Amino acid sequence: MSEDHNYKSLSKKIVNWYKKNARNLPWRHTTDPYTIWISEIVLQQTTVQQGLEYYNRFIKAFPDVNTLANASEDEVLKLWEGLGYYSRARNLHFTAKHICQDLDGVFPTTYKELLKLKGVGPYTASAIASFAYNLPHVVVDGNVIRLISRLWGIEEAVDIKPTLSRIAEIGTQLISHQEPSVFNQAIMEMGALCCTYKNPSCDKCPVSASCVARHNDIIASIPYKSKKIKKSKRYFYYFHIIDNEGYTIIHKRSDKDIWQGLYKFPLQEVSGFDVDPNASFIGFNNHDIDTYKSRIFKQTLTHQYIHAQFCIIKLPYSVAEIDNPAYIISPNDKLSSFAWPKIIDLYFKDLSITLF
Ligand code: ADE
Repeated sequence: MSEDHNYKSLSKKIVNWYKKNARNLPWRHTTDPYTIWISEIVLQQTTVQQGLEYYNRFIKAFPDVNTLANASEDEVLKLWEGLGYYSRARNLHFTAKHICQDLDGVFPTTYKELLKLKGVGPYTASAIASFAYNLPHVVVDGNVIRLISRLWGIEEAVDIKPTLSRIAEIGTQLISHQEPSVFNQAIMEMGALCCTYKNPSCDKCPVSASCVARHNDIIASIPYKSKKIKKSKRYFYYFHIIDNEGYTIIHKRSDKDIWQGLYKFPLQEVSGFDVDPNASFIGFNNHDIDTYKSRIFKQTLTHQYIHAQFCIIKLPYSVAEIDNPAYIISPNDKLSSFAWPKIIDLYFKDLSITLF
């Protein structure tokens, strides 16, 4: 360890910076493991700004682990709508039920026990252990990886285990044993506000004098990631079938994919939009019925590019005549009460302008 990398002194500087610059966020005023858990899972999905809105709505609807456990999956997913990674919401619900049914409604109090909860990995277990119980487990999220890898000038790929272990070891040396909770908030906050991905504010950084990346002028190339994610392209035709009595056919997704438990219109996945849509699988032949095609909607996910086109079919008869137990028949004006994937929500936003 060099003179410049005196852990105690660096840790103190990070904590002191935080005490002057911290944002006032609701989950920082509590030691309740339940609300901390919710905040951390929400924040894994989105920015603090957008996360605040979701967090407040979620805590208002489910103020404690009991209310979450007793909610329906539909209610939980509706509140999560738009955040993505719906397995995280399903895991929250599953774990709330587990805590109520098997752990007498009491949240685990050690890192090891927290880690056993479904949906709780090392990051979340450390966050809850430190923020709720003041235990010295360092959080290693993207912000912390960026800050430590720059401060120590770590040029190795941060998406491989040995580098991550080294970063976690440095974090473990750095964490204040007097104030582990404050230290963890502080190091994340510095990563988020000061040591940003692009254009970091080195002039405001309390540890910039010790920063190897700054000294060697390699900030822009750290953190380095070796793995390029390969994304697949997918093409969906969604059939938005509206009947002559004001009803629409929808479907609850049972596929074990990222949208499990959400709702969709009958869906035909095709290799590209040069293939014609064919709704015969629904139980009628759309060649005989006028079909209006929406524009193409696009969404980029971590592992896939989604393209969706909506085929709007106005049926001259009642959808009740389509006899398929897999479908739910919903009044058109109740569609907004279901939880939809983002790409269908984008379509609804367009529709409210163009059709209705
Ligand atoms: N990102 C993840 N956890 C956070 C927290 N507790 N405060 C601010 N940003 C965060």
